[in-house]
Amino acid sequence: DIAPGAGNALDARRGTRDFIAGAASETWGYSQEYLGPLLRFRRGRIANISVTNRLDEPITAHWHGMHVPGYLDGGPQLAFGPGETWAPELPIDHPAATLFYHSHIHGRTGPQVYRGLAGMIIIDDPGIKDPLPHDYGVNDFPLIVQDRRFDRSGRMIYGLGMMDRMHGFRGDQILVNGVVRPKLTVPAGLVRLRILNASNARVYDFRFTDGRQFHQVASDGGLLDRPLAMASLQLDGAERAEIVVDFSDRSPVSLVSRDIRMGGMMNGGMMGDWGGSMMMGDRGMMGDRGRMGDRGMMGMGGNSGTPLEIMSFDVGEASPAGPTRLPTSLPSDAPALGDPVRRRDFTLNMHTRGMMRGGMMGGDGQMMGINGEPYVMDRIDETIRAGETELWRINTDMMMRHTFHVHGTSFRVVRQNGRPVDSARIGWKDVVRVQGPTEILLRFDKLASEETPFMYHCHILEHEDVGMMGQFTVT
Ligand code: C2O
Ligand code: CU
Ligand code: CU
Repeated sequence: DIAPGAGNALDARRGTRDFIAGAASETWGYSQEYLGPLLRFRRGRIANISVTNRLDEPITAHWHGMHVPGYLDGGPQLAFGPGETWAPELPIDHPAATLFYHSHIHGRTGPQVYRGLAGMIIIDDPGIKDPLPHDYGVNDFPLIVQDRRFDRSGRMIYGLGMMDRMHGFRGDQILVNGVVRPKLTVPAGLVRLRILNASNARVYDFRFTDGRQFHQVASDGGLLDRPLAMASLQLDGAERAEIVVDFSDRSPVSLVSRDIRMGGMMNGGMMGDWGGSMMMGDRGMMGDRGRMGDRGMMGMGGNSGTPLEIMSFDVGEASPAGPTRLPTSLPSDAPALGDPVRRRDFTLNMHTRGMMRGGMMGGDGQMMGINGEPYVMDRIDETIRAGETELWRINTDMMMRHTFHVHGTSFRVVRQNGRPVDSARIGWKDVVRVQGPTEILLRFDKLASEETPFMYHCHILEHEDVGMMGQFTVT
């Protein structure tokens, strides 16, 4: 479904797909019935892309993670309506990496991405010799992982209940590249998997059924400086990781994840492998909204013991070419950021003073926000000077778990959930999980004006859509 070099003209259009035998779901895609083609760009070139909107509502095409100026970034201000074409010329000035593209309409990103307006970008850097498997479709595969819900007749549905509004949407069926639990035949040797969590909100901790080790070689913004051995990999929404897996033992294996459902502090970090039925009904934790503290409701949020099957692998013959061992170091691109000259604080708020006008939220129509304010399209929240390193401190109220994504640059994580972390092991990021005080170091080299500012937001799309977003200029 995802082939490289599928031309540079994308048509955002409607389609249908039979995800589960027998029922056609209405889907959207960029030039495909569902999702978009793999876009493959070379560092140092200019990519001419044109996107035509053949749907009946405004959309955008945001190049998530790519370092391009604001007027090319595809944020909410760059919406184009039905029948219109947007044709940016993108200077590719980004290290080799696996990126993401998706629509980014304020208030509609969740439903539009869910329908299928999303895809993967691969950046190649001709200036480095890639020591990893890189034969696309042979020993190098894209895995776009999404969770979806289907009704009884097998049609894909997006409906937000109370839990979905609070924690973000979670589906119980996992798609990889638009297919439910696919099987992939890989060569008996080292294989690179480029994993993109393109789910609206679901968090995965990927692992193999036989517990085998694998190596992470890249995160959001490009290669790590050395392969990192692990047996499980956690990815929040919009995060990417490239991993190298050794299939030379030829045994078939599956990729699975725990069914992580809870949005709050119990996931990972503070409470570790919390798998039971403990509830978040404590009023102290949930604040003063009595109905959210209802034990019955919150009790639905456990991590169930049954792993979700993501996909399975069959092993064929060894491929004739391709590296047979991992290098000990990788050609990562690591400009030093230096010391920060400024600090900014951001608190992700589950409730703000703002109220939704439309019917998206239903109920009391509360908006979420950052630093007390829900996102407003014509308000600039921060003004930033190009070329200056800053330290951003991000926190969350009510101990809820969120992510924080920044447009226009990649950053280093220096502290996560109150603890110092090894930035080098985490690599270059554009999304970070936040469930306690988190600090990132960043610098902007691409400019963004008031007309087309950059965004920062929670990448739980249901939070972003109700206002957990802000925007800034870089001058
Ligand atoms: Cu993946 Cu502001 O976006
Ligand atoms: Cu983005
Ligand atoms: Cu959030």
